[in-house]
Amino acid sequence: MSLAFDTLLLETDESGICVLTINRPDKMNALNSRVFDELDLALDEVLSNSEIKGLIITGSGDKAFVAGADIKELNTLTDNEAEAKSLRGQKTFQRIEDSSKPIIAAVNGYALGGGCELALACHIRIASANAVLGLPEVSLGLIPGYGGTQRLPELVGKARALELIMTGRFVKAQEAKEICLVNEVAEQDAVESSKTMMSAIIKQGPLAIAQVVKAVKEAGKENGYKSEAKLFGDLYNTADFKEGTSAFLEKRKPDFSGK
Ligand code: COA
Repeated sequence: MSLAFDTLLLETDESGICVLTINRPDKMNALNSRVFDELDLALDEVLSNSEIKGLIITGSGDKAFVAGADIKELNTLTDNEAEAKSLRGQKTFQRIEDSSKPIIAAVNGYALGGGCELALACHIRIASANAVLGLPEVSLGLIPGYGGTQRLPELVGKARALELIMTGRFVKAQEAKEICLVNEVAEQDAVESSKTMMSAIIKQGPLAIAQVVKAVKEAGKENGYKSEAKLFGDLYNTADFKEGTSAFLEKRKPDFSGK
């Protein structure tokens, strides 16, 4: 399957792993309005196409994942337009975080500003050895506007997040792993490592994976444990649960239908 976009490439392999490549290599894959519109269309396709089991997001070329929001576009906005732009970007990134299908960011180079925020919205981040992550918006006289001030503290803790956002300093792959900003540094290629991890995830019950996303979203919130119990119970009404437990008892591999 291959859909045509101006700023994205979308390719799904026979196992159901879709790779979405942000494709503006001459602009370090910076996120302009067109990219956001196309990201929404691509997410519509990924979420509705039952042949797609999981999504990997990466950037074109070997220099950048995404070097941020398009600074040329940001430069001309009024305050109200800037607020609207922030809300617009937040909405698309929230769709990524809330996706019922697993999403991994293969961070293959610079992931700065909006690019770092895109990676933060994904469920899992795998960095290439040359990856560099950071939220340098203060150097432009701005703050992160696509969820960075909210998601970074969740991953690295409040103090470290404040340090990184206030200094705007760049974090290389190994340090990013040490502070839990990325899950793993790929030995060779970030997309290949992401595919390996995704293969392990899409073997599991897809409805269970979707419930994991909902349950973990409630972590640390007042009703977290209650939500977990409800989501756990809901799965008892699915064919996937019956198949998973039967397969274990019958000493065979499960064949999940996603129903
Ligand atoms: N928005 C728009 N254009 C961008 C961009 C961005 N966020 N990041 C890079 N580009 C463009 C550059 O303007 C340049 O375009 P040009 O060839 O038409 O002049 C092209 O991409 C290549 O970038 P360049 O800066 O020449 O590459 P480099 O290897 O010297 O540096 C970076 C790479 C990523 C360190 C540098 O481009 C950078 O700092 N980008 C901005 C990062 C940032 O502040 N992001 C937060 C935005 S909110």
